[in-house]
Amino acid sequence: MAASSAVCRLRFRGLGLLDRFCFGLEPQTQGRFTSTASAVKAQTENTTAKAAKESKTFQAIQEERREQAERSVLISCPSKINENKFLDYLSKHGTINNHFFYNSYGAYAVVEFSSRESIASLKESTNIPAVEHEAAVPFKSRLLSLKWPGSQSSNHPMPKFKVQSPPSISEISQLLSEKNSIDEQLQCLTETLELTEENVSLRFLVCSLLRDIAGAYFPECIIRPFGSTVNSFGKLGCDVDMILDLDGIYATSQKKGSGLSLEYQVKRGASERAVTQSILSVIGKCVDQFGPGCVGVQNILQARCPLVRFSHQPSGFQCDLTANNRVAMKSSELLFLYGQLDPRVRHLVFSVRCWARVHSITSSIPGAWITNFSLTVMVVFFLQQRGPPILPTLDRLKELAGPSDKCVIEGNDCTIVSDLSKITLQQNTDTLEKLLQEFFEFYGNFPFNKASINIRKGKEQTKPETTALYIQNPFETTLNISKNVNATQLERFVALCRESAWLLQQKENLNQSSDSPWGFAALLVPSVSSGAGVKNRRKRKLEPASSRIKNLLDSLKIKGGETVAKKGSANSSR
Ligand code: GTP
Ligand code: MG
Repeated sequence: MAASSAVCRLRFRGLGLLDRFCFGLEPQTQGRFTSTASAVKAQTENTTAKAAKESKTFQAIQEERREQAERSVLISCPSKINENKFLDYLSKHGTINNHFFYNSYGAYAVVEFSSRESIASLKESTNIPAVEHEAAVPFKSRLLSLKWPGSQSSNHPMPKFKVQSPPSISEISQLLSEKNSIDEQLQCLTETLELTEENVSLRFLVCSLLRDIAGAYFPECIIRPFGSTVNSFGKLGCDVDMILDLDGIYATSQKKGSGLSLEYQVKRGASERAVTQSILSVIGKCVDQFGPGCVGVQNILQARCPLVRFSHQPSGFQCDLTANNRVAMKSSELLFLYGQLDPRVRHLVFSVRCWARVHSITSSIPGAWITNFSLTVMVVFFLQQRGPPILPTLDRLKELAGPSDKCVIEGNDCTIVSDLSKITLQQNTDTLEKLLQEFFEFYGNFPFNKASINIRKGKEQTKPETTALYIQNPFETTLNISKNVNATQLERFVALCRESAWLLQQKENLNQSSDSPWGFAALLVPSVSSGAGVKNRRKRKLEPASSRIKNLLDSLKIKGGETVAKKGSANSSR
């Protein structure tokens, strides 16, 4: 029996990530601060280190980020900028805590002051531009443009521009092929794709800029990012999912006892959904007409979860603004928590998401595809099935919750423990290579026709309905998060799982070779199952399809030789 170990160690395991998610400053950035502008506060490591050592809860991390964003501005600037002069100019308004440059349709700087008064002072000295032949909407946002008269001298060092987009698949493949083991490849993949400290800051800043628009109507509102921006599984280039949180408006400060009370007169809507739609439609219009940098605004109000979609050009982010969506925020917290418990969780999720994207199992266009959210839940479920389990069930996370963790949203009990140190994990020493191989075997053989995936119980359950793929919604337990997936997409997923499991068993794919992708990189080559050719695959003698599939099935010991097609038809005849 595997020994149990109290997870004080969890704190150490999670530190790397918390570091990135809480005010992490890169050493070179810190160095640049001290040497560039005298008035810029020398950023010491204490904020970062403290935040990490305190092992903050998900909510505390989000709050710190949000507050940091409120003290920040986004400035369009010349690309050949004299960084010292720029910082000296801005620091007249107060101490600068942090800054970085990046490129997106031009050069931009994110500048974080140490106090919000600096923002007010900066705005005081900023002008509304006089535009020729057009008229300006006089909305004073924190998206600014730096006017730099005359040409800049070229003998000052150029600032370092931080990359905000992921490398191409061929670059990733090349990088991975240089590694010495599949475990190293998966770790490298996570490091290459994960959101950087700067990218997360920029995401929170975009939410904060949008809040300034919505705040004109609802001053107490907050716009919070959720989904992959905060759940620790986001990759560079992923969208920014936002929630317009109006909960602060409902909070009352009224003291009981006097007998008298006042109420606001309000307009009424037919339902909560109708009110959400109406609020989002007005904010969508403001974003479209007054929001600098916001383009392509679409009101998608008839969706199950009404939203406003737009592109924020200065950051390059695609944004989805929803309202009244607290369960989704809780799901993000849950995934974040699972990602913190063991580093293998994030490595496996990043690899499976990347593999799925390359083979068009997932797509950025809505449709019958499996979503990244569903895939992540599938990885969590797989890790709950290991012997001993790598992840606890959701029911266990609920049992460990304290009184302050109690959370009921629209009648759904969404309680989970927030203090990670209360979670005890069993010792499991599986390598990433083994986990990846067995993930593909697990889902290559999963009885999708009759069983559902349930991370609350950590066990397969009987499918309550005949949809192709049933993954129980973690918190709204009567819902299926993969209802959209059709039998064809599921069959493709299963076929690719089988093929990938088979490929990982082939000796030639397990040995590092200089001239072709190997290990995980070999799985990123277009596949037979994904409908693309195999021309680019490693120079392997192709077997006829029949014997290739036979090998595949033999190697996976599929129960009773049942094929995916059969499973599909059994499914549809129910
Ligand atoms: P990306 O593909 O990287 O954007 O991943 P993501 O996790 O952000 O997924 P997405 O943008 O599709 O959805 C954002 C969040 O909404 C998810 O993380 C979930 O918390 C939630 N979500 C997405 N799909 C569903 C669903 O079908 N049901 C429920 N309840 N929540 C969902
Ligand atoms: Mg998303």
